[in-house]
Amino acid sequence: MRTASDQAFGVYIHWPFCLSKCPYCDFNSHVRHAAIDEARFARAFAAEIAATAARVPSRTVSTVFFGGGTPSLMQPATVGATLDAVARHWTIAADAEVTLEANPSSVEASRFRGYRAAGVNRVSLGVQALDDTALKQLGRLHNAREALDAVKVARATFERYSFDLIYARPRQAPQDWAVELRRALAEAGEHLSLYQLTIEPETPFHALRAAGKLATPDEDTARAFYDVTQEVCAAAGLPAYEISNHARPGAECRHNLVYWRAHEYAGIGPGAHGRLDIDGERHATATEKRPESWLMRVEAMGHGLISDEALTREERADEFLLMGLRLAEGIEPQRYASLAGRKLKPRRIAQLAEQGAVETTADGRLRVTLAGFPLLDAVVADLAA
Ligand SMILES: C[S@@+](CC[C@H](N)C(=O)[O-])C[C@H]1O[C@@H](n2cnc3c(N)ncnc32)[C@H](O)[C@@H]1O
Ligand code: SF4
Repeated sequence: MRTASDQAFGVYIHWPFCLSKCPYCDFNSHVRHAAIDEARFARAFAAEIAATAARVPSRTVSTVFFGGGTPSLMQPATVGATLDAVARHWTIAADAEVTLEANPSSVEASRFRGYRAAGVNRVSLGVQALDDTALKQLGRLHNAREALDAVKVARATFERYSFDLIYARPRQAPQDWAVELRRALAEAGEHLSLYQLTIEPETPFHALRAAGKLATPDEDTARAFYDVTQEVCAAAGLPAYEISNHARPGAECRHNLVYWRAHEYAGIGPGAHGRLDIDGERHATATEKRPESWLMRVEAMGHGLISDEALTREERADEFLLMGLRLAEGIEPQRYASLAGRKLKPRRIAQLAEQGAVETTADGRLRVTLAGFPLLDAVVADLAA
């Protein structure tokens, strides 16, 4: 039986520019010193939305997410024109969640009312730290005061807001993080994203670590960071619903749930990924990453796709497992079986359960335990084998 949430359809729109590049970040974000021709981008977004809707018509959009990069550098009119294009080609549900990622500076906060008027009803702010020295080290352009002021404006402007923090930073101890997290929770609404610092290849942080100038926590310390995060958030009524995301029950980010529950979504803009159901097959789509090349492709061909592949049953089932086991709610083993054409092996489940890494809930769902979350990749690999 299909439920309303089974039919969720999300639209992701990527804004690929930032004012400066943070030294830890490997997202598809670019710094441009010349002015960005936003009207040209808005036309290209509309063209790509039209081309995608021609392939997956008659959808009801449950969520839209402007991600980046720094979408809060967009003019509200660009956001409005893009939402208008979504509404022209699909139906936007009356209760749709429309999120925009924002950097927490005063300039950006001054655009919040414009975004609300354009149809945005949720913002996600990249606060990253509440400590000025740490913010400098992370290469951020805002200080803690400015970030908290932007949170205040978000709270006054939108029905829902969230902010991101990065922990396990250089020279941070788990006890320091506990104090910072409690301060953050005092400012938080109903949702927080808490990411353990990842050292991504080919970033300046990677080079610094290789040169011995940036220490990252050993396994036990990383575990202590993770445990502190769970304890402090659960005590504040914001338990983890996903490995890095915390919310009061009912306040989860519905757009991200589209990914983790392996529902359908369109990826619009440079370097965006999509999953589209066409003629009974699930297509994995990806667009050209370089912003100017993406623009030229869209202008020449009506879309910026560089890959579009129907997933095999096995690929689809593995993806379902990988994404679904990130969620505290876990997965329905029957859905895996119907995607893969085979069941998960009971012996492997039993072994992992014995090790305390997974559990089966009363209603038959399979989920990773809190103790198992830090070992998620190994657990998924074991189950999928
Ligand atoms: C697309 S980014 C950011 C949105 C916005 N541009 C900003 O920086 O505020 C989404 C989030 O990913 C997190 N992030 C990015 N790179 C990371 C890394 N290497 N380790 C941990 N978290 C990271 C940050 O918390 C960031 O807010
Ligand atoms: S973390 Fe955000 S602001 Fe920094 S480079 Fe990445 S996308 Fe841009």
